[in-house]
Amino acid sequence: MQSLIAGNWKMFKTVREAELFARRLVAELDIPPGREVVIAPAFPALCAVAAALRGSAIKLAAQNVHDQAQGAFTGEVSAGMLIDAGCEYVIIGHSERRTFPGETDDLIGRKLLAALAQGLRPILCIGETLAEREQGATFTVITGQIKEGLKNVALGDIGDAVIAYEPVWAIGTGKTATPEQAQEVHAFIRNTIEDAYGKELAGKLRIIYGGSVNSGNIGKLMSEKDINGALVGGASLDIESFSAIVKY
Ligand code: PGA
Repeated sequence: MQSLIAGNWKMFKTVREAELFARRLVAELDIPPGREVVIAPAFPALCAVAAALRGSAIKLAAQNVHDQAQGAFTGEVSAGMLIDAGCEYVIIGHSERRTFPGETDDLIGRKLLAALAQGLRPILCIGETLAEREQGATFTVITGQIKEGLKNVALGDIGDAVIAYEPVWAIGTGKTATPEQAQEVHAFIRNTIEDAYGKELAGKLRIIYGGSVNSGNIGKLMSEKDINGALVGGASLDIESFSAIVKY
């Protein structure tokens, strides 16, 4: 299984900054074998970054997608448009989208199907808040998010998806889950997938960790059995730190 290191740039970097970053990454980053690298700029920078990445092994992701193929949805972007812009992946259900625009599990499930229908690979983000963890509700929350998020996803499609476990209390806070805490939830996620899709598919599904990942903690996280990569926010904005994470 290839591990996946994905940089989520959130609402940072102008088109020019994003393009220059991508050009430097292509020129300077030596990707170790068995690793896949993805960057997710904001919508306006997608085409320029796609052009900069052309011919390289680095792949492009979007940070959001609409659940309909086209229509009168002002301000929205469809999966087909993202494919056309050069994306291979799309982040769906990030906690910042669950919180600010108030995306529900049901909507996230529909977005996932819309992405898969166009051949866009979804990175489904799930994770509990601090209050939920303290109430002992982590596994209940995770189960609900997986069941709803993957509702109606066919057996043949599940392998194209990636699950990102991002405990909300670890995102942008500098508070990483310990490798043991993350592994415990990743193993639970894999078991949940196994119950729904069988052992073979569950064994192949990539489950990546996100939440204050940096070049100092990536190595230990990646040494856990069920951690197959990382979704990196803040530390992906700087080329040195992102490169160091890729080379963990
Ligand atoms: P962070 O963000 O690495 O800045 O905590 C991770 C994410 O939101 O995907």
